[in-house]
Amino acid sequence: MDSIMASDDPFAREFAGSYPVSASPTGVVREFTLTAGPSTWELLPDRPMPVWAYNGRVPGPVLRLKLGDTVRVHFVNNLEQATTVHWHGVRVPNSMDGVPGVTQDPVQPGHAFLYEFTPKDAGTFWFHPHIRSSEQVERGLFGVLVVEEPDPPRFSQDVVWVLDDWLLDSYGLLDERFVTRRDLAHDGRWGNVLTVNGKRTPTFEAQPGQRWRIRMVNVANGRVFEPRFFDLAPNIIAMDGMPLPEPSPVASLDLAPGNRVDVDLVIPVAAAGKVFEVRDTFSRDHPVLARIAVTGQPVVTPDGEIPRGKIPPWRKADAEDPSLVFHLNARAGGPYGIEWTINGEVMRHDGGTEQGPSHGLHTRHSLALGRFAKIRFVNDSARLHPMHIHGVFFKVLARDGRSVDEPRWRDTVLLRARQTIDVGLVPLDEGQWMLHCHILEHAESGMMTLVEVH
Ligand code: C2O
Ligand code: CU
Repeated sequence: MDSIMASDDPFAREFAGSYPVSASPTGVVREFTLTAGPSTWELLPDRPMPVWAYNGRVPGPVLRLKLGDTVRVHFVNNLEQATTVHWHGVRVPNSMDGVPGVTQDPVQPGHAFLYEFTPKDAGTFWFHPHIRSSEQVERGLFGVLVVEEPDPPRFSQDVVWVLDDWLLDSYGLLDERFVTRRDLAHDGRWGNVLTVNGKRTPTFEAQPGQRWRIRMVNVANGRVFEPRFFDLAPNIIAMDGMPLPEPSPVASLDLAPGNRVDVDLVIPVAAAGKVFEVRDTFSRDHPVLARIAVTGQPVVTPDGEIPRGKIPPWRKADAEDPSLVFHLNARAGGPYGIEWTINGEVMRHDGGTEQGPSHGLHTRHSLALGRFAKIRFVNDSARLHPMHIHGVFFKVLARDGRSVDEPRWRDTVLLRARQTIDVGLVPLDEGQWMLHCHILEHAESGMMTLVEVH
Protein backbone atom coordinates (compact mmCIF):
# COMPACT_ATOMS: atom_id res chain seq x y z
CA MET A 1 0.00 0.00 0.00
CA ASP A 2 2.81 2.46 0.74
CA SER A 3 4.04 2.25 -2.81
CA ILE A 4 0.51 2.96 -3.99
CA MET A 5 0.27 6.13 -1.92
CA ALA A 6 3.49 7.35 -3.48
CA SER A 7 2.40 6.21 -6.93
CA ASP A 8 2.32 8.57 -9.89
CA ASP A 9 -1.03 6.99 -10.78
CA PRO A 10 -3.71 9.34 -9.37
CA PHE A 11 -6.41 6.64 -9.51
CA ALA A 12 -4.23 4.25 -7.54
CA ARG A 13 -3.67 7.01 -4.96
CA GLU A 14 -7.45 7.46 -4.63
CA PHE A 15 -7.64 3.73 -4.04
CA ALA A 16 -4.97 3.58 -1.33
CA GLY A 17 -6.39 2.16 1.88
CA SER A 18 -9.59 0.99 0.20
CA TYR A 19 -9.39 -2.62 1.12
CA PRO A 20 -9.61 -2.85 4.89
CA VAL A 21 -6.09 -3.31 6.12
CA SER A 22 -5.45 -6.86 7.24
CA ALA A 23 -4.75 -7.33 10.89
CA SER A 24 -1.29 -8.65 11.52
CA PRO A 25 -1.20 -12.44 11.24
CA THR A 26 -2.43 -14.01 14.47
CA GLY A 27 -0.10 -16.97 14.06
CA VAL A 28 -3.11 -19.22 14.54
CA VAL A 29 -3.35 -22.06 12.05
CA ARG A 30 -6.83 -23.47 11.55
CA GLU A 31 -6.77 -26.98 10.11
CA PHE A 32 -9.64 -28.59 8.25
CA THR A 33 -10.10 -31.81 6.35
CA LEU A 34 -12.17 -31.50 3.23
CA THR A 35 -13.15 -34.61 1.32
CA ALA A 36 -15.00 -34.54 -1.97
CA GLY A 37 -16.90 -37.73 -2.64
CA PRO A 38 -20.21 -39.36 -3.44
CA SER A 39 -22.97 -39.09 -0.86
CA THR A 40 -26.76 -39.00 -0.70
CA TRP A 41 -28.98 -36.10 0.13
CA GLU A 42 -32.69 -36.15 0.87
CA LEU A 43 -33.83 -33.16 -1.09
CA LEU A 44 -37.38 -34.49 -1.46
CA PRO A 45 -38.81 -36.51 1.44
CA ASP A 46 -38.11 -40.27 1.18
CA ARG A 47 -36.17 -39.75 -2.03
CA PRO A 48 -32.48 -40.11 -1.16
CA MET A 49 -30.65 -38.60 -4.09
CA PRO A 50 -27.09 -39.45 -5.09
CA VAL A 51 -24.98 -36.29 -4.90
CA TRP A 52 -21.32 -35.33 -4.71
CA ALA A 53 -20.50 -33.47 -1.56
CA TYR A 54 -17.75 -32.05 0.62
CA ASN A 55 -17.57 -34.01 3.87
CA GLY A 56 -20.78 -35.82 2.93
CA ARG A 57 -23.04 -32.79 3.38
CA VAL A 58 -24.94 -30.39 1.14
CA PRO A 59 -23.91 -27.66 1.37
CA GLY A 60 -20.39 -28.58 2.45
CA PRO A 61 -19.00 -27.31 5.73
CA VAL A 62 -18.78 -23.64 6.71
CA LEU A 63 -15.10 -23.03 7.41
CA ARG A 64 -14.82 -20.19 9.91
CA LEU A 65 -11.71 -18.33 10.93
CA LYS A 66 -10.61 -14.92 12.09
CA LEU A 67 -8.85 -12.38 9.94
CA GLY A 68 -5.14 -13.00 10.33
CA ASP A 69 -5.54 -16.75 10.86
CA THR A 70 -3.95 -19.14 8.43
CA VAL A 71 -6.22 -21.80 6.98
CA ARG A 72 -4.78 -25.19 6.17
CA VAL A 73 -7.13 -27.47 4.27
CA HIS A 74 -6.20 -31.12 3.82
CA PHE A 75 -8.15 -31.85 0.69
CA VAL A 76 -8.87 -35.41 -0.45
CA ASN A 77 -10.49 -36.34 -3.74
CA ASN A 78 -12.72 -39.41 -3.43
CA LEU A 79 -14.58 -38.66 -6.65
CA GLU A 80 -14.16 -40.68 -9.80
CA GLN A 81 -12.95 -37.66 -11.69
CA ALA A 82 -10.22 -35.07 -11.21
CA THR A 83 -11.08 -31.90 -9.31
CA THR A 84 -9.57 -28.84 -7.61
CA VAL A 85 -10.79 -26.40 -4.97
CA HIS A 86 -11.11 -22.73 -5.87
CA TRP A 87 -11.56 -20.17 -3.08
CA HIS A 88 -13.99 -17.77 -4.69
CA GLY A 89 -13.27 -14.12 -3.83
CA VAL A 90 -10.36 -14.85 -1.52
CA ARG A 91 -7.12 -13.06 -2.37
CA VAL A 92 -4.94 -16.14 -2.12
CA PRO A 93 -1.39 -16.62 -3.36
CA ASN A 94 -1.77 -17.54 -7.02
CA SER A 95 -0.58 -21.12 -6.44
CA MET A 96 -3.56 -21.72 -4.09
CA ASP A 97 -6.20 -20.52 -6.58
CA GLY A 98 -7.24 -23.99 -7.71
CA VAL A 99 -7.13 -23.44 -11.46
CA PRO A 100 -6.20 -26.67 -13.25
CA GLY A 101 -3.37 -26.49 -15.74
CA VAL A 102 -2.64 -22.90 -14.69
CA THR A 103 -1.98 -22.71 -10.95
CA GLN A 104 -1.94 -26.41 -10.09
CA ASP A 105 -2.30 -29.89 -11.53
CA PRO A 106 -5.75 -31.39 -11.17
CA VAL A 107 -6.17 -33.52 -8.06
CA GLN A 108 -6.71 -37.02 -9.45
CA PRO A 109 -9.14 -39.55 -7.93
CA GLY A 110 -7.69 -40.93 -4.70
CA HIS A 111 -5.19 -38.08 -4.42
CA ALA A 112 -4.81 -35.24 -1.94
CA PHE A 113 -3.74 -31.60 -2.02
CA LEU A 114 -2.83 -29.16 0.74
CA TYR A 115 -4.36 -25.70 0.43
CA GLU A 116 -2.83 -23.19 2.78
CA PHE A 117 -3.24 -19.41 2.84
CA THR A 118 -3.90 -16.45 5.09
CA PRO A 119 -6.95 -14.49 3.88
CA LYS A 120 -6.29 -10.79 3.52
CA ASP A 121 -9.91 -9.70 3.85
CA ALA A 122 -12.65 -10.46 6.36
CA GLY A 123 -15.95 -11.43 4.78
CA THR A 124 -18.14 -14.09 3.21
CA PHE A 125 -16.45 -16.28 0.61
CA TRP A 126 -17.11 -19.70 -0.86
CA PHE A 127 -15.30 -22.60 -2.44
CA HIS A 128 -16.05 -24.94 -5.29
CA PRO A 129 -14.33 -27.13 -7.89
CA HIS A 130 -12.79 -25.49 -10.94
CA ILE A 131 -12.89 -28.53 -13.22
CA ARG A 132 -16.14 -29.53 -14.93
CA SER A 133 -17.75 -27.23 -12.41
CA SER A 134 -20.96 -27.29 -14.45
CA GLU A 135 -21.33 -30.89 -13.28
CA GLN A 136 -19.40 -30.90 -10.00
CA VAL A 137 -21.05 -27.81 -8.48
CA GLU A 138 -24.49 -28.89 -9.68
CA ARG A 139 -24.05 -32.28 -8.03
CA GLY A 140 -23.48 -30.59 -4.68
CA LEU A 141 -19.84 -29.54 -4.32
CA PHE A 142 -19.78 -26.13 -2.65
CA GLY A 143 -19.04 -24.76 0.79
CA VAL A 144 -18.65 -21.41 2.52
CA LEU A 145 -15.57 -19.75 4.00
CA VAL A 146 -16.30 -17.09 6.61
CA VAL A 147 -13.46 -14.82 7.67
CA GLU A 148 -14.54 -12.94 10.77
CA GLU A 149 -13.48 -9.39 11.52
CA PRO A 150 -10.93 -9.13 14.36
CA ASP A 151 -13.60 -7.28 16.32
CA PRO A 152 -16.81 -8.73 14.94
CA PRO A 153 -19.96 -6.64 15.25
CA ARG A 154 -22.52 -8.04 17.68
CA PHE A 155 -25.36 -10.05 16.23
CA SER A 156 -27.79 -12.43 17.94
CA GLN A 157 -27.09 -14.89 15.14
CA ASP A 158 -24.60 -15.05 12.30
CA VAL A 159 -26.02 -17.45 9.72
CA VAL A 160 -25.14 -18.59 6.24
CA TRP A 161 -27.84 -19.07 3.58
CA VAL A 162 -26.59 -20.97 0.59
CA LEU A 163 -29.03 -20.34 -2.28
CA ASP A 164 -29.21 -22.94 -5.00
CA ASP A 165 -31.48 -24.56 -7.54
CA TRP A 166 -31.56 -28.18 -8.69
CA LEU A 167 -32.84 -29.65 -11.90
CA LEU A 168 -34.70 -32.81 -10.95
CA ASP A 169 -36.15 -35.33 -13.38
CA SER A 170 -39.59 -36.92 -13.18
CA TYR A 171 -38.32 -39.40 -10.54
CA GLY A 172 -37.29 -36.53 -8.30
CA LEU A 173 -33.61 -37.24 -8.83
CA LEU A 174 -30.90 -35.05 -10.28
CA ASP A 175 -31.12 -34.77 -14.04
CA GLU A 176 -27.73 -36.08 -15.13
CA ARG A 177 -27.60 -34.41 -18.51
CA PHE A 178 -25.04 -31.66 -18.07
CA VAL A 179 -24.05 -28.84 -20.42
CA THR A 180 -26.94 -29.40 -22.81
CA ARG A 181 -27.58 -27.37 -25.92
CA ARG A 182 -30.57 -25.95 -24.10
CA ASP A 183 -28.36 -24.81 -21.20
CA LEU A 184 -25.91 -23.29 -23.66
CA ALA A 185 -28.53 -21.54 -25.74
CA HIS A 186 -29.90 -19.95 -22.55
CA ASP A 187 -28.50 -18.68 -19.26
CA GLY A 188 -27.07 -22.04 -18.27
CA ARG A 189 -28.84 -24.73 -16.30
CA TRP A 190 -31.83 -23.48 -14.30
CA GLY A 191 -33.35 -25.93 -11.84
CA ASN A 192 -36.93 -26.67 -10.86
CA VAL A 193 -36.37 -26.89 -7.09
CA LEU A 194 -34.94 -24.00 -5.07
CA THR A 195 -33.09 -24.62 -1.84
CA VAL A 196 -31.62 -22.69 1.05
CA ASN A 197 -28.85 -24.68 2.76
CA GLY A 198 -29.91 -27.74 0.77
CA LYS A 199 -33.53 -27.61 1.98
CA ARG A 200 -36.73 -26.53 0.29
CA THR A 201 -38.36 -23.48 1.94
CA PRO A 202 -36.81 -23.97 5.36
CA THR A 203 -38.20 -22.05 8.32
CA PHE A 204 -35.75 -20.18 10.53
CA GLU A 205 -36.84 -19.28 14.05
CA ALA A 206 -36.02 -15.87 15.40
CA GLN A 207 -36.91 -14.07 18.61
CA PRO A 208 -38.41 -10.59 18.59
CA GLY A 209 -35.67 -8.01 18.92
CA GLN A 210 -32.93 -10.27 17.61
CA ARG A 211 -30.42 -8.97 15.15
CA TRP A 212 -29.22 -11.36 12.47
CA ARG A 213 -26.38 -11.26 10.05
CA ILE A 214 -27.41 -13.37 7.09
CA ARG A 215 -24.63 -14.24 4.68
CA MET A 216 -26.30 -15.18 1.39
CA VAL A 217 -24.31 -16.99 -1.26
CA ASN A 218 -25.58 -17.86 -4.74
CA VAL A 219 -24.02 -21.19 -5.70
CA ALA A 220 -26.43 -21.94 -8.59
CA ASN A 221 -25.00 -22.81 -11.99
CA GLY A 222 -27.01 -20.18 -13.81
CA ARG A 223 -29.91 -18.79 -11.80
CA VAL A 224 -29.96 -15.18 -10.65
CA PHE A 225 -31.74 -14.56 -7.34
CA GLU A 226 -33.37 -11.35 -6.16
CA PRO A 227 -34.15 -12.08 -2.52
CA ARG A 228 -36.88 -9.88 -1.02
CA PHE A 229 -37.82 -9.65 2.63
CA PHE A 230 -40.95 -7.44 2.22
CA ASP A 231 -42.10 -6.31 5.70
CA LEU A 232 -38.78 -7.12 7.24
CA ALA A 233 -36.35 -4.44 6.16
CA PRO A 234 -32.77 -5.64 6.27
CA ASN A 235 -29.80 -3.57 5.16
CA ILE A 236 -26.99 -4.79 2.97
CA ILE A 237 -23.72 -4.44 4.84
CA ALA A 238 -21.36 -6.28 2.52
CA MET A 239 -21.23 -7.35 -1.10
CA ASP A 240 -18.99 -10.17 -2.31
CA GLY A 241 -17.43 -10.22 1.14
CA MET A 242 -16.40 -6.57 1.21
CA PRO A 243 -18.06 -4.09 3.59
CA LEU A 244 -20.12 -1.24 2.16
CA PRO A 245 -19.30 2.35 3.21
CA GLU A 246 -22.92 2.72 4.41
CA PRO A 247 -25.51 0.01 5.05
CA SER A 248 -28.08 0.21 2.26
CA PRO A 249 -31.61 -1.16 2.00
CA VAL A 250 -32.22 -4.41 0.14
CA ALA A 251 -33.90 -3.09 -3.00
CA SER A 252 -33.28 -4.28 -6.52
CA LEU A 253 -30.52 -6.49 -5.31
CA ASP A 254 -29.50 -9.05 -7.86
CA LEU A 255 -27.47 -11.92 -6.61
CA ALA A 256 -25.92 -13.52 -9.68
CA PRO A 257 -24.11 -16.86 -9.60
CA GLY A 258 -20.98 -16.37 -7.50
CA ASN A 259 -22.23 -13.26 -5.66
CA ARG A 260 -22.55 -12.97 -1.89
CA VAL A 261 -24.37 -10.42 0.15
CA ASP A 262 -24.40 -9.93 3.92
CA VAL A 263 -27.53 -8.40 5.37
CA ASP A 264 -28.23 -6.94 8.79
CA LEU A 265 -31.75 -7.86 9.84
CA VAL A 266 -33.44 -6.63 13.02
CA ILE A 267 -36.57 -8.58 13.96
CA PRO A 268 -39.11 -6.00 15.17
CA VAL A 269 -40.45 -6.62 18.65
CA ALA A 270 -43.94 -6.08 17.23
CA ALA A 271 -43.39 -9.05 14.93
CA ALA A 272 -43.83 -11.60 17.73
CA GLY A 273 -45.92 -14.54 16.52
CA LYS A 274 -45.63 -13.66 12.83
CA VAL A 275 -44.15 -15.66 9.98
CA PHE A 276 -42.36 -13.74 7.21
CA GLU A 277 -41.61 -15.01 3.75
CA VAL A 278 -38.43 -14.39 1.85
CA ARG A 279 -39.09 -14.68 -1.86
CA ASP A 280 -37.05 -14.61 -5.00
CA THR A 281 -38.43 -11.91 -7.25
CA PHE A 282 -36.12 -12.51 -10.19
CA SER A 283 -38.38 -15.26 -11.55
CA ARG A 284 -41.86 -14.17 -12.46
CA ASP A 285 -43.68 -16.49 -10.07
CA HIS A 286 -41.80 -15.12 -7.00
CA PRO A 287 -41.10 -18.46 -5.32
CA VAL A 288 -40.66 -18.63 -1.55
CA LEU A 289 -37.03 -19.21 -0.58
CA ALA A 290 -37.40 -19.40 3.19
CA ARG A 291 -39.58 -18.34 6.09
CA ILE A 292 -38.68 -16.55 9.27
CA ALA A 293 -40.95 -17.46 12.19
CA VAL A 294 -40.81 -15.04 15.09
CA THR A 295 -41.37 -16.85 18.38
CA GLY A 296 -40.32 -16.69 21.99
CA GLN A 297 -39.52 -13.88 24.36
CA PRO A 298 -38.36 -10.48 23.12
CA VAL A 299 -34.67 -9.82 23.57
CA VAL A 300 -32.64 -6.62 23.67
CA THR A 301 -31.34 -5.83 20.19
CA PRO A 302 -27.53 -5.86 20.16
CA ASP A 303 -26.11 -2.68 18.75
CA GLY A 304 -22.66 -1.68 17.73
CA GLU A 305 -20.58 -0.60 14.84
CA ILE A 306 -20.85 -2.38 11.53
CA PRO A 307 -17.54 -2.49 9.63
CA ARG A 308 -17.44 0.17 6.91
CA GLY A 309 -15.62 -0.04 3.62
CA LYS A 310 -13.96 2.67 1.60
CA ILE A 311 -14.67 2.90 -2.10
CA PRO A 312 -12.61 5.28 -4.24
CA PRO A 313 -14.75 7.83 -6.13
CA TRP A 314 -12.75 7.49 -9.39
CA ARG A 315 -14.88 10.28 -10.86
CA LYS A 316 -12.40 11.15 -13.60
CA ALA A 317 -12.14 7.53 -14.73
CA ASP A 318 -14.81 8.18 -17.40
CA ALA A 319 -12.23 9.85 -19.59
CA GLU A 320 -9.80 6.96 -19.35
CA ASP A 321 -9.53 4.43 -22.14
CA PRO A 322 -10.14 0.86 -21.04
CA SER A 323 -6.97 -1.18 -20.56
CA LEU A 324 -8.80 -4.33 -21.59
CA VAL A 325 -12.00 -4.83 -23.57
CA PHE A 326 -13.79 -8.17 -23.52
CA HIS A 327 -16.48 -8.94 -26.07
CA LEU A 328 -18.82 -11.73 -25.00
CA ASN A 329 -20.57 -13.87 -27.56
CA ALA A 330 -21.46 -17.38 -28.72
CA ARG A 331 -20.91 -19.35 -31.88
CA ALA A 332 -21.66 -22.79 -33.21
CA GLY A 333 -19.01 -25.45 -32.71
CA GLY A 334 -16.89 -27.03 -30.00
CA PRO A 335 -17.55 -30.26 -28.09
CA TYR A 336 -21.04 -29.14 -27.00
CA GLY A 337 -22.24 -27.73 -30.33
CA ILE A 338 -22.38 -24.17 -29.01
CA GLU A 339 -19.43 -22.41 -27.48
CA TRP A 340 -19.28 -19.18 -25.53
CA THR A 341 -16.36 -16.92 -26.35
CA ILE A 342 -14.42 -13.96 -25.02
CA ASN A 343 -13.06 -11.85 -27.89
CA GLY A 344 -13.73 -14.81 -30.15
CA GLU A 345 -11.51 -17.15 -28.11
CA VAL A 346 -12.36 -20.13 -25.96
CA MET A 347 -10.44 -21.50 -23.01
CA ARG A 348 -10.72 -25.06 -21.81
CA HIS A 349 -9.90 -26.75 -18.55
CA ASP A 350 -8.65 -30.03 -19.86
CA GLY A 351 -6.19 -30.11 -17.01
CA GLY A 352 -3.26 -29.91 -19.34
CA THR A 353 -1.28 -32.72 -20.82
CA GLU A 354 1.94 -34.43 -19.84
CA GLN A 355 3.70 -31.83 -21.95
CA GLY A 356 2.30 -29.11 -19.70
CA PRO A 357 -0.79 -27.02 -19.35
CA SER A 358 -2.91 -26.50 -22.39
CA HIS A 359 -5.79 -24.11 -22.30
CA GLY A 360 -6.02 -23.15 -25.95
CA LEU A 361 -5.55 -19.42 -25.41
CA HIS A 362 -3.46 -17.38 -27.80
CA THR A 363 -3.93 -13.88 -26.46
CA ARG A 364 -2.25 -12.79 -23.23
CA HIS A 365 -4.04 -10.14 -21.26
CA SER A 366 -2.00 -8.34 -18.66
CA LEU A 367 -2.42 -5.68 -16.01
CA ALA A 368 0.20 -3.81 -14.03
CA LEU A 369 0.47 -4.57 -10.33
CA GLY A 370 -0.65 -1.65 -8.15
CA ARG A 371 -1.94 0.47 -11.02
CA PHE A 372 -5.48 1.47 -11.87
CA ALA A 373 -7.07 -0.30 -14.80
CA LYS A 374 -10.42 -0.01 -16.46
CA ILE A 375 -11.93 -3.14 -17.94
CA ARG A 376 -14.82 -2.98 -20.37
CA PHE A 377 -17.20 -5.91 -20.82
CA VAL A 378 -19.32 -5.75 -23.96
CA ASN A 379 -22.15 -8.27 -24.09
CA ASP A 380 -22.72 -8.86 -27.80
CA SER A 381 -25.28 -11.54 -26.95
CA ALA A 382 -28.84 -11.59 -25.67
CA ARG A 383 -28.01 -13.81 -22.66
CA LEU A 384 -26.90 -13.05 -19.10
CA HIS A 385 -23.23 -13.16 -18.13
CA PRO A 386 -22.13 -12.73 -14.50
CA MET A 387 -18.47 -11.91 -15.14
CA HIS A 388 -16.06 -12.86 -12.39
CA ILE A 389 -12.38 -12.03 -11.93
CA HIS A 390 -10.18 -14.04 -9.57
CA GLY A 391 -7.92 -12.39 -7.03
CA VAL A 392 -9.27 -8.85 -7.16
CA PHE A 393 -12.27 -6.69 -6.32
CA PHE A 394 -13.60 -4.08 -8.71
CA LYS A 395 -16.04 -1.19 -8.79
CA VAL A 396 -18.63 -0.69 -11.51
CA LEU A 397 -17.84 2.66 -13.19
CA ALA A 398 -20.38 2.78 -16.01
CA ARG A 399 -23.30 0.87 -17.49
CA ASP A 400 -23.97 1.36 -21.20
CA GLY A 401 -21.68 4.39 -21.22
CA ARG A 402 -23.44 6.15 -18.35
CA SER A 403 -21.27 6.59 -15.31
CA VAL A 404 -22.54 5.18 -12.04
CA ASP A 405 -21.14 5.55 -8.55
CA GLU A 406 -21.80 2.14 -7.07
CA PRO A 407 -20.71 2.27 -3.45
CA ARG A 408 -19.53 -1.35 -3.29
CA TRP A 409 -16.76 -3.68 -4.31
CA ARG A 410 -17.61 -6.82 -6.22
CA ASP A 411 -15.84 -9.81 -7.67
CA THR A 412 -18.71 -10.72 -9.98
CA VAL A 413 -20.96 -8.40 -11.98
CA LEU A 414 -24.05 -9.32 -13.95
CA LEU A 415 -24.22 -8.21 -17.58
CA ARG A 416 -27.71 -8.18 -19.00
CA ALA A 417 -28.54 -8.71 -22.68
CA ARG A 418 -26.47 -6.43 -24.96
CA GLN A 419 -25.16 -4.45 -22.00
CA THR A 420 -21.74 -2.82 -21.68
CA ILE A 421 -20.19 -2.42 -18.23
CA ASP A 422 -16.95 -0.69 -17.29
CA VAL A 423 -15.24 -1.63 -14.04
CA GLY A 424 -12.25 -0.11 -12.29
CA LEU A 425 -9.70 -1.95 -10.20
CA VAL A 426 -6.18 -1.89 -8.81
CA PRO A 427 -4.70 -5.39 -8.77
CA LEU A 428 -2.58 -6.03 -5.71
CA ASP A 429 -1.71 -9.67 -6.18
CA GLU A 430 0.68 -11.05 -8.76
CA GLY A 431 -0.07 -14.05 -10.88
CA GLN A 432 -2.27 -15.50 -13.57
CA TRP A 433 -5.89 -14.85 -12.64
CA MET A 434 -8.94 -16.18 -14.36
CA LEU A 435 -11.65 -13.99 -15.76
CA HIS A 436 -14.79 -15.89 -16.72
CA CYS A 437 -18.53 -16.06 -16.84
CA HIS A 438 -19.94 -17.63 -13.67
CA ILE A 439 -22.76 -19.31 -15.55
CA LEU A 440 -20.95 -22.60 -15.31
CA GLU A 441 -22.16 -23.99 -18.64
CA HIS A 442 -20.99 -20.85 -20.43
CA ALA A 443 -17.59 -21.19 -18.74
CA GLU A 444 -17.39 -24.91 -19.50
CA SER A 445 -17.98 -24.28 -23.19
CA GLY A 446 -15.14 -21.76 -23.32
CA MET A 447 -16.12 -18.43 -21.74
CA MET A 448 -12.97 -18.05 -19.69
CA THR A 449 -9.66 -16.29 -20.09
CA LEU A 450 -6.56 -15.40 -18.10
CA VAL A 451 -5.27 -12.04 -16.95
CA GLU A 452 -1.69 -11.83 -15.87
CA VAL A 453 -0.87 -9.33 -13.14
CA HIS A 454 2.79 -8.37 -12.83
CU1 C2O B 1 -16.41 -19.08 -8.37
CU2 C2O B 1 -13.48 -19.11 -11.19
O1 C2O B 1 -15.01 -19.03 -9.82
CU1 CU C 1 -22.14 -16.30 -19.58
